[in-house]
Amino acid sequence: MSTLRLGDKAPNFDAETSEGKLNFYDFLGDSWGILFSHPADYTPVCTTELGAAAKYKDEFEKRNVKVMALSVDGVASHKGWIQDINETQNTSVNFPIIADEDRKVADLYDMIHPNADDTLTVRSVYVIAPDKTIKLMITYPASTGRNFEELLRVIDSLQLTAYKKVATPANWKSGEDVVISPSVSNEEADKLFPKGYKEVKPYLRMTPQPE
Ligand code: BEZ
Repeated sequence: MSTLRLGDKAPNFDAETSEGKLNFYDFLGDSWGILFSHPADYTPVCTTELGAAAKYKDEFEKRNVKVMALSVDGVASHKGWIQDINETQNTSVNFPIIADEDRKVADLYDMIHPNADDTLTVRSVYVIAPDKTIKLMITYPASTGRNFEELLRVIDSLQLTAYKKVATPANWKSGEDVVISPSVSNEEADKLFPKGYKEVKPYLRMTPQPE
């Protein structure tokens, strides 16, 4: 078991997956990554989640994000279940699912929470930047399916704020006004944000989302 925190290097690993043996870093290349776990194959919420993730293929590609899923079931189980996901969710699973039968990756990423369930992985999400640092961690219980719109929203925020000196306010969606980082002086803000900004308070300066 390891304790991972934001800013830590995402651990690399080799794993058997529904698409063969893969090395995580090689799979990611220079892309952003999502690594997400689900409790078990052939379960209802997981079936809808993996179908939803497959349907967001174009949105992930637009954002240069590669997706890898994980459960502690084996490759044969994954392959059979993928057919069910494709059939029932009207999609085609287009990302590898790790067959983590020995729980090696689940332990590396602390995806088993024994007080929730001794053996099955919870619904963990890790967003990993191209430099392999962990930028976001979210954990849901088995009973709650994830919101993939929210994942796209936070990826938009992570990618914007990685390159511009801004932060995104509550409930922000791509295209809406953003907050100028507190470390930026007003003189610097005049140069960095040619569309101008509104100083609501000295510490709260709003500006249109930069290009
Ligand atoms: C599900 O995916 O539906 C599920 C999996 C494990 C426990 C509860 C629900």
